[in-house]
Amino acid sequence: MSEIFTVRIEPAQLQYDVEGDLTLLEAADMSRVQLPSSCRNGTCRSCMCRLLSGEVAYSIDWPGLSAEEKAEGYVLPCVARPTSNLVLEQTQASAF
Ligand code: FES
Repeated sequence: MSEIFTVRIEPAQLQYDVEGDLTLLEAADMSRVQLPSSCRNGTCRSCMCRLLSGEVAYSIDWPGLSAEEKAEGYVLPCVARPTSNLVLEQTQASAF
């Protein structure tokens, strides 16, 4: 049985669940939460946002983030899967 994690997006206070092995972006799409995106494979960085709390794991070895950005808490939702409940900061998020 796969775990379900809850993602909250600040400052809009949108919330959705991520089930199975969906990425943060795929699960947002299915929950009618719109996050910025383009390539969906971890290179363009248009989905980049900050992780305010929680943990993620990546499906690719080194997503298009510098070590400094990673250290500052930036994540790429198109290739990140939650390993705990999360709070993300994305000012361009909206419900559709
Ligand atoms: S959509 Fe391009 S890096 Fe996430």
